Amino acid sequence: MKNCNQILAENKAWIEETFEKIDTKMQAVTLRSRDKIVDGVDENHRHIVARPTWWTAGFWGGLNYLLYEYTKNEEYLKTGREIERQMDEGLAQYEQLHHDVGFMWHILSGVAYRILGDKASRRRNLFCASVLFSRYVPDGGFIRAWNGGAPHDDWSIVDCLMNIPLLYWASRELGDDRFKQIAMAHADMALLDHLREDGSVIHIVEHDRESGEPRCFHGGQGYNAESSWSRGQAWALYGFALSYIHTGEERYLNAAKRVAHYFIANCCDDWLPRVDFRAPAEPVYYDSTAGACAACGLIEIAKAVGEHEGGMYMNAAVNILRAMDERFMDYDPDHDEMLTHGTVLYPVNGDPKKSGVHKSIIYGDYFYTEAILKLLGSEFNPW
Ligand code: GLY
Repeated sequence: MKNCNQILAENKAWIEETFEKIDTKMQAVTLRSRDKIVDGVDENHRHIVARPTWWTAGFWGGLNYLLYEYTKNEEYLKTGREIERQMDEGLAQYEQLHHDVGFMWHILSGVAYRILGDKASRRRNLFCASVLFSRYVPDGGFIRAWNGGAPHDDWSIVDCLMNIPLLYWASRELGDDRFKQIAMAHADMALLDHLREDGSVIHIVEHDRESGEPRCFHGGQGYNAESSWSRGQAWALYGFALSYIHTGEERYLNAAKRVAHYFIANCCDDWLPRVDFRAPAEPVYYDSTAGACAACGLIEIAKAVGEHEGGMYMNAAVNILRAMDERFMDYDPDHDEMLTHGTVLYPVNGDPKKSGVHKSIIYGDYFYTEAILKLLGSEFNPW
């Protein structure tokens, strides 16, 4: 197995060309969608918007900040600033907020604070950290996911591993260890209750509120409760890697590796992740967003494990990104979308359209770009 540096050297030209194509395209799109809180695209390849409390609402502004951080192109900064301003309407709707405030503000206002030193952005992110903190169920030892009363109040979902970096950040920022303690309690719960022995993960765990013990499992956006929704695997893969980065605790790195091994084994036929790794082989439903997020986590694992072990993870990340580049990336500057073939959920009702199968979703563009920036050598961690 080649080591990371050899893999990066061999792929240098492709990495640089890919970023060039992303940057060229995004210079046009950022002007067209400056005032849109983007969610996806319509049939005319134009961005459509999300409400500012929808969980995807932070990605478009976050993507612009990420591009600004690397290129210093002011047009990206202007879009990021405008979207962050518009998102204040979401912050004002306290009852509508939920555990995804990390996805929504940590990569937006959290990044704005880190790259611009903006104190208002810092306050926004601290407010969100307090919201996430307040969702912790102390006896159960988990952060509750969505709103809506019973039984949702007793649900934890694997996606939340991507929200808790907000708590690690707040803990350092405020010098208050309690935020980190809650983040680690939730990550340890996910290790026990969401991660199966074989490295696959469960999307939704319903807990006994007093003991925290799992009462039952739900398939959520996957095929069923025993299956393995690929974006959930990706949230766990990158999420555990991020918990390792923020805490230095080896158990999180080992968890990320277990999920990574399972993920790689299940998509290395053609390196294009299906929506669920334990669903019927036909019809084929892809989820490119799972591949883009998993690639980010694989690159971080490769960096964490060192020279003689990292090659396998780096190789997998590059293979996934290259396969998706060939099959799914749209670089036409007249189209707003970039990564196609994302999927919202497995179409258990049999209607792919109702389940959002094979569409462009903004977090696909976000994670694909983040992964390419990592391959280019950017050390900036937006999470
Ligand atoms: N966090 C919701 C999803 O991955 O679709």
